[in-house]
Amino acid sequence: MNGFPEHFLWGAATAAHQVEGSNTNTDCWVLEYTPGTIFREPSGDACDHYTRFREDIRLLKDLGLNAYRFSIEWARVEPADGYFSQVALQHYREVLEACHENGLTPLVTLHHFTSPRWLMRQGGWGGAETPARFANYAGEVMKALGDAIPYICTINEANINTILWQLGFGLRRERQPETAAPVGIGEGLEGVRSGMSAWWEQCAQELGTTPNELRPANFSAPDDVEPTLMAAHVAAREAIKAVRPETQVGITLALHDWQVLPGGEEQAERLKHEAMGKWFPAMADDDFFGVQNYSRQRIGPDGVVGNEEGVEVTQMGYEFYPEALEGMIRQAAAADLPMIVTENGVSTEDDTRRVEFIDRALAGVARCLADGLDVRGYMYWSAMDNFEWALGYGPKFGIIGVDRATQERTVKPSAEHLGRIAKGNGVVG
Ligand code: GCO
Repeated sequence: MNGFPEHFLWGAATAAHQVEGSNTNTDCWVLEYTPGTIFREPSGDACDHYTRFREDIRLLKDLGLNAYRFSIEWARVEPADGYFSQVALQHYREVLEACHENGLTPLVTLHHFTSPRWLMRQGGWGGAETPARFANYAGEVMKALGDAIPYICTINEANINTILWQLGFGLRRERQPETAAPVGIGEGLEGVRSGMSAWWEQCAQELGTTPNELRPANFSAPDDVEPTLMAAHVAAREAIKAVRPETQVGITLALHDWQVLPGGEEQAERLKHEAMGKWFPAMADDDFFGVQNYSRQRIGPDGVVGNEEGVEVTQMGYEFYPEALEGMIRQAAAADLPMIVTENGVSTEDDTRRVEFIDRALAGVARCLADGLDVRGYMYWSAMDNFEWALGYGPKFGIIGVDRATQERTVKPSAEHLGRIAKGNGVVG
């Protein structure tokens, strides 16, 4: 492989709640620990990255990577509405400094699914004031840390509710008007009937709202939260630019390689617009587009078609199909923005499959570059095995393993492989 531009960002990604540990002030912590939860296990200590970040960043540097994408936790920085913790901000300054000292360009995400508990009392991601509150948080982060932040992803996978909906998970409010409990995440309507709604009700109570008004960023009906998420992105970008115009700002979206089967043209256009195109107006003044991809989606005349019989699937149940990254990038180019692959990866216990996945995915990126597409970086998801939301610690996405009992890190061969590619800027030496 070659043809990767100079200064290409080669990195790995994490998110605060998935790695830091004891992220107790978030909505997600409540969802995990309330009886009847749909989470297979709670996040607990996660990877203790909050205290081990120096060691982790050092490992990434030693591999040969030059970038690290991580998120700042809003619930830590603004633990109560309007109160900013100087101690939490100082923590993230130290994380940023560790990146710079190790030659890693930091890409900071301001919101990666989890929100402060207090936000849920204020309407969550349906609240009229939420865009302004989010922009205020973005501005405070920039005032405190902006000099050390070259790239910001405002909101991670702002379209996640639509993506889950289209996959048949997600929240279907119209089917169960009595509560707003999310259907799915493998549980289905039966799950709601047999107690999930009691769980959701208790979460709502705990978070100071009602079941119908509980609006987390990633467990809501798309129409209930997407307008707020869009407005929040625009407001945050303005707040960031007002403090430091040089910081490059973008949003990230979960994107498939949408593949059209005969007769599926119309459906594909619709699904793609709902998941991607409708965000473009809100992104028009962005500096980059954070594109995130894990597999393809095949679409026929009746909508999404499942995996073909016999294909290799990952621990997530998606088809093992690394070429999806190329297909997705070619479609995301429609946004007419420079692209950074802010997530791409595979969950597997077999690290040799990860090596193959990375090689094939990057070969696709190289073909995109050869065709003149503007791709500026590749962040493998994830730097380490971590908390995969409702699926707990089962799926293994990491290039670095984490012993759940001791927190000991193990560098996997795929990490060394990605590091060699990074050192050779796309060419394995
Ligand atoms: C995502 C996520 C990660 C997930 C990853 C694997 O943005 O969906 O950023 O939090 O862990 O996608 O499913």
